[in-house]
Amino acid sequence: MTNEASHVLPKLYHFKLKGKGPWAEAIDIAGDVIRAGGLVAFPTETVYGLGANALDAAAVDKIFRAKQRPATNPLIAHLASMDDLPAVARDIPPLAYELGERFWPGPLTLALPRSAAVPANLSAGLDSVAARVPDHPVALALLEAAKTPIAAPSANLFARPSPTTALHVLEDLHDELDVLLDTGETSIGVESTIVSLLDEPPQLLRPGGVDMESLRQLIPDLRYSPQYLNERETAPAPGAMLRHYSPRVDLVLFSGDDDKAVYAAMRAEIARHKNVGVIASNADARAFARLGVKIERLGKNDKRAAKRLFAAMRALDRQGVDLIVARAPKKRGLGLAVWDRLLRAAAGSLVEV
Ligand code: TXA
Ligand code: MG
Repeated sequence: MTNEASHVLPKLYHFKLKGKGPWAEAIDIAGDVIRAGGLVAFPTETVYGLGANALDAAAVDKIFRAKQRPATNPLIAHLASMDDLPAVARDIPPLAYELGERFWPGPLTLALPRSAAVPANLSAGLDSVAARVPDHPVALALLEAAKTPIAAPSANLFARPSPTTALHVLEDLHDELDVLLDTGETSIGVESTIVSLLDEPPQLLRPGGVDMESLRQLIPDLRYSPQYLNERETAPAPGAMLRHYSPRVDLVLFSGDDDKAVYAAMRAEIARHKNVGVIASNADARAFARLGVKIERLGKNDKRAAKRLFAAMRALDRQGVDLIVARAPKKRGLGLAVWDRLLRAAAGSLVEV
């Protein structure tokens, strides 16, 4: 090794952080990298984020390039606490603080009027900004160390399933990262719920980790009219594109209350293909046990399903199946977020039984 080469820094700092710490050195390095305009992948309670200084347009641009994300799809600004909201937003209504008191730190993102301090590219040129305070000790320590809001989309390549483990992050973004803070599997597994306070009444833009029933306790008139647009339609609101969170292989979603009829429809689809993967709850999985299909079990309830969903899609992709079939959950609680992600992964291939 030459003298010069021995001074070359490693391409990627991959820190495995356990329990309550101490993580001081890793967090210091990651905070410095954020301030220097670099990219840090870090865990949140929902999914891993790909972070950069939210107030630095060049750093924000690196995120879009690393993810191959269209510049029309805005990012979320992460804050160390609700007190930092004015650093990214203006004209903040009292409801934002009421929601923050109740749900932050936590999986709720609010769309608000954008502060002039936030570079336009973070918000894809919109006059609004999306912000949240994540509920994860490593994310919060990183935000404290960086001393700036951190822009972070999910740390996956554009339109791929969101990453719930550090391995998923490395699968998609290994060559793009400066630092990876690795704490193992994330706890919620689907992204934050997004609520726009720009409209009256407020609008649910993306179901996620905070369920709609809980939100309606504070926003009784919360509107939800999901948009599932195909590629030829122009999206009136960001995040409305239908094909999203997709495994590489096609996915067909089956919905219906009659177990036997749904299983029969799924089996008929399975019979038409050679190498099928099934994503199913533990209870539903039994119906496919002896069909020679690859089964990814989501667990016994919607909470487990949310946590395992994206990993299940990635696992079946890796096993090289040529079709995935899945059953839609009930649209309540976390089930609504799971339903939304499955329908987008299916790009609209929904069979109602
Ligand atoms: O749980 C999460 O929210 C994760 C973790 C890392 O915090 N982040 C995440 O980011 O899911 P991303 O980029 O994958 O999704 C952000 C969503 C997009 O659908 C985007 O369109 C929407 O937020 N969004 C961002 N800014 C917005 C704005 N000003 N108005 C409406 N939607 C916005
Ligand atoms: Mg995403």
